Amino acid sequence: MAITKAETVVRTDSARVGFIGFGNMASAMAEGFIRSGKVAASRIYACAGNYQRLVKRAEAMGIRPRKDAESLLASADVIIVAVKPHVVPEALAPIMKKLGDKPVVSVAAGWPCARYEDLMPGTCHLSIMPNTPVAVNEGVIICEASHTLTERQEKLVRSLLESLGTVQDVDSSLMSIAGTVTGCSPAFIAMVIESLADAAVKHGIPRAAAYPLVSQTVAGTAKLQLEQGTHPGVMKDAVCSPGGTTIRGVAALEEAGLRSAFIKAIDAIEG
Ligand SMILES: NC(=O)c1ccc[n+]([C@@H]2O[C@H](COP(=O)([O-])OP(=O)(O)OC[C@H]3O[C@@H](n4cnc5c(N)ncnc54)[C@H](OP(=O)(O)O)[C@@H]3O)[C@@H](O)[C@H]2O)c1
Repeated sequence: MAITKAETVVRTDSARVGFIGFGNMASAMAEGFIRSGKVAASRIYACAGNYQRLVKRAEAMGIRPRKDAESLLASADVIIVAVKPHVVPEALAPIMKKLGDKPVVSVAAGWPCARYEDLMPGTCHLSIMPNTPVAVNEGVIICEASHTLTERQEKLVRSLLESLGTVQDVDSSLMSIAGTVTGCSPAFIAMVIESLADAAVKHGIPRAAAYPLVSQTVAGTAKLQLEQGTHPGVMKDAVCSPGGTTIRGVAALEEAGLRSAFIKAIDAIEG
């Protein structure tokens, strides 16, 4: 993006982050920022629909509530739009013309770069899709390759996002599907964890022990795949000895349509 006037310089270690909307996703990101040590709670600001409810949430996390978007804009160096998609125009209306060169990062589904260009042309914005594991700095943050941030703003924003997990740039045409796979899958994986734990309980494992056992197995398997880069099919084969027990479970899962169930879940979202 071309810059015509002196750009505001903000250092990552002093950047103040302001959330417009402080629900599930904003709270998860704020938690991740604080936990990583990248952004202290005292440098995180938020405004929301219901101020009283926001104050309670903000007090619990040590962040700073603001009554409206205008006072949030005055407090923060980077604005993160974290309202429901249909609320974006209404939430940004009071500050749209006052943004100047302040970077805006949007997490709203269905709000790619082109849509922001229609809504607030000439502003500096980036559309991303984070997922809830950002709260423990293990998230995936999908970033749209097209954006209007300056080089300096992009560096600042990227450095903030990298504290939340793995940042992955994708082409605008893949933004929706990439965001769906990473943003919705925590729900699907949670269902897998719950289902496997139910099976464990059915066979006598106490429920309190079942969740950590299964969750660690999921986390460990994912880590193994990420670190070794092994094809998942090869990882599955490595556990299935001929005539053994695991292959019987694999056959039962295939009969129940596991693979097709996950593909259908994504189809149901993406159409
Ligand atoms: N949840 C996820 O896993 C996930 C993943 C990726 C992306 N996202 C995106 O994140 C966005 C937020 O989702 P969410 O799950 O966090 O929703 P949420 O929990 O319902 O939070 C929405 C927040 O927006 C606030 N709000 C409503 N109207 C407002 C207004 N006019 N001005 C300022 N704030 C307003 C709400 O405040 P009150 O509650 O006080 O009304 C609430 O704090 C969505 O666009 C979604 O696409 C979510």
